[in-house]
Amino acid sequence: MPMNAIKEKLKSHFKDTHLIVSAPGRINIIGEHIDYNDGFVLPAAIDKAIYLGFTKKEANPTSIQSIDFGETIEIDGSKQTSGWAAYFEAIHQLMKEKEMWHQSVSCKIISNLPVGAGISSSAALCCGYLYGLNELNEWGMTRLEIAKFAQQVEHAIGVNCGLMDQYAVMFGMKDKAILLDCKNETHQYVDLKLRKHALYLINSNIKHELIGTPYNDRRRTCEKIIRAIQDRYENIPSWQNVKHHMVDEVKEQLTANEHQQGIYVVEEFQRVKYCAAKLIELNVTAIGKALYETHEGLSKQFQVSCDETDLLVALAKQNNVLGARMMGGGFGGCTINLLEKETAQNKIEVITAFYKQKTGLEANVIPVNIGKGVDHITYDNL
Ligand code: GLA
Repeated sequence: MPMNAIKEKLKSHFKDTHLIVSAPGRINIIGEHIDYNDGFVLPAAIDKAIYLGFTKKEANPTSIQSIDFGETIEIDGSKQTSGWAAYFEAIHQLMKEKEMWHQSVSCKIISNLPVGAGISSSAALCCGYLYGLNELNEWGMTRLEIAKFAQQVEHAIGVNCGLMDQYAVMFGMKDKAILLDCKNETHQYVDLKLRKHALYLINSNIKHELIGTPYNDRRRTCEKIIRAIQDRYENIPSWQNVKHHMVDEVKEQLTANEHQQGIYVVEEFQRVKYCAAKLIELNVTAIGKALYETHEGLSKQFQVSCDETDLLVALAKQNNVLGARMMGGGFGGCTINLLEKETAQNKIEVITAFYKQKTGLEANVIPVNIGKGVDHITYDNL
């Protein structure tokens, strides 16, 4: 939905609200399945967001209305639900456990962030809602605390994710990538102005949904490998200290697939460092090459891709796109593509047409603009 249309929608639905919050999605340039392994990742927030309009209520229950889905739900923090309601039940359940007193609210939600595309709509939803409650109730949580609370929500729902998505959603900055050190939970910003080039997401339209996928298995495997390495070596506090040969040395304790998955982690650690340096130099050729290598690793070694995202990346390569790879947790969602602006449209048309012919699926394109993290907006500025 174009920005003007979203603004009109916000204006008509958010007129009498007490607080309006925007919570963006995120891309990840490189460093996939590395956050829960204490490594460095390179995400950024985008200019597509979930908007939440809060109105304080005198009495229970808290209610959430999705304007887009035409649904309203009441939340008490104890109901067993599924879909988007489950995130709110989990948030309120955790608030109870943490004994966080809060005023009841009615919250309206409008979004132009695609769901199931692997651009962190659930992190945006949880971070945006928690940010709003934090403001209204004056809890004084920091951005990092909000990010970690939102991560706990995902764990409660059943996805044992790392912190990258929530961190990017909370700390995004216009035209900057975030070089996030997941071990120390600190970051530095790297300029993300690609001049003649740009990033484009191509949505495979295979719904990316991590609940029930082997995502948690991959995390368990990585934990098993690091434990085996730590048993063998002293002074290996985390994956940040692991070398290729160490994974080989514990090979006998691993299946062939697990061994390959460990090798992927070590190689991806190196690619993130390399890519962050190349981004500073604006060496797009080197970045593009690293993106293809990451895809190869995610598909063949780490085994979290699917036929459709593999096809989109293969088509990108055939059409001389500088770099492309599946993005996010895997098993569907988007590919991220690095292209020269001038020829981007033609190449993308060829790729998506061929994709449709092969799979019968429409692959829609999401141009990437790097935006800021969660923030509040005043009604007059809409
Ligand atoms: C999902 C998770 C993140 C991260 C990525 C893979 O997006 O939520 O924590 O692990 O997958 O890099």
